[in-house]
Amino acid sequence: MTITRLPVGPIALRAKPSVGGEPDTQRGRSPSMPVHGPLIDSFGRVHTDMRLSVTDRCNFRCVYCMPDEGMTFLPRAEILSFEEIARVARVARGLGVTSVRLTGGEPLVRRGIVELVRRVAAMGFDDVSLTTNGTGLARLAEPLAQAGLQRVNISCDSLQPDRFAQIRRRGELSMVLKAMDAAEAAGLAPLKVNVVVMAGVNDDEVLDFCAFAREHDRVVRFIEYMPLDANGLWDRSQVVAGSDLLAQIGERWPLVACDPQGTDSAPAERYRFADGVGEIGVVASVTRPFCGTCDRLRVTADGAVRNCLFSDDELSLRSVMRSGGTDDEMAMTLRTAIWGKLPGHGINDPGFLRPHRSMSMIGG
Ligand code: 5AD
Ligand code: SF4
Repeated sequence: MTITRLPVGPIALRAKPSVGGEPDTQRGRSPSMPVHGPLIDSFGRVHTDMRLSVTDRCNFRCVYCMPDEGMTFLPRAEILSFEEIARVARVARGLGVTSVRLTGGEPLVRRGIVELVRRVAAMGFDDVSLTTNGTGLARLAEPLAQAGLQRVNISCDSLQPDRFAQIRRRGELSMVLKAMDAAEAAGLAPLKVNVVVMAGVNDDEVLDFCAFAREHDRVVRFIEYMPLDANGLWDRSQVVAGSDLLAQIGERWPLVACDPQGTDSAPAERYRFADGVGEIGVVASVTRPFCGTCDRLRVTADGAVRNCLFSDDELSLRSVMRSGGTDDEMAMTLRTAIWGKLPGHGINDPGFLRPHRSMSMIGG
């Protein structure tokens, strides 16, 4: 597949955003949206990484994501069919998206997920991965890997069974640990383990998780708690700053930054342990936003393109598809959605308003 190169002009000249918090807005936004070339926003950020949610349903009820009871899910008719999801992936691939991560809710509760992975993996993406709570992996790791899945992120917020149960409200720690073994046995490596850190809840386990990362050679990623819980209970006082975590870890095991210049577009700041044993990551979305290098777009289970976790400015690919729209029209919808991306998520602005959708309805 050939990807048309960025047109030479004002956009091409300013394609590299400033590193860190937000793109350099001082230079002004580019005046018009290109209709060729990669998915670019008006600040020059090129979008190559797509999160594709396949369901808003989940068999867990994590405190930072869903209420214990009463979560309302989308009616099935509103969820994209596999045919539609595959079409979205194909159109995005044609626009220069190189990396796809399937998300949920919990993606493995969607029946036929292995077939979907097979179809998406055959489209020539550099990277096809999936974020899961792990419950379906003992059964599905092998077929998913066979179908072309390359990597998984498994969420696990405590290494203590009781506390795991309190945070996640369903499932068991032992099952998730077995899922990690199954993923590795199937070759879905390196394994990443997502830990949402909440003050006074699990922040005393940070060193335990580091020991776990070192022992098992799994990349543990500490994620700052974001205002995306369905209950709307998020409070800044519950956020543990990534810098505090790093200071605490560094005292026990000195760390070396994997990307000291901070040019990596991945949200996790990655660190190796200085003694060469293992790696961790910190996703400091709240205290150290990485919007300036954000290259992500999201498509929700009901087919809405979101240019940011925190922006409710959505455009519906489902409407385009179900009203007989062409691939070109879908491509324009994707371009328009990305072009409208704001410089930053604004969590730290005084007037910040939480997005309408919570995490499981967006897709992580
Ligand atoms: N803040 C931070 N991370 C969250 N996740 C879910 N809800 C939140 C939140 N409010 C994480 C999950 C999973 C990924 C999809 O997003 O732990 O790893
Ligand atoms: Fe389910 Fe993931 Fe939300 Fe937990 S964080 S309730 S596993 S979608």
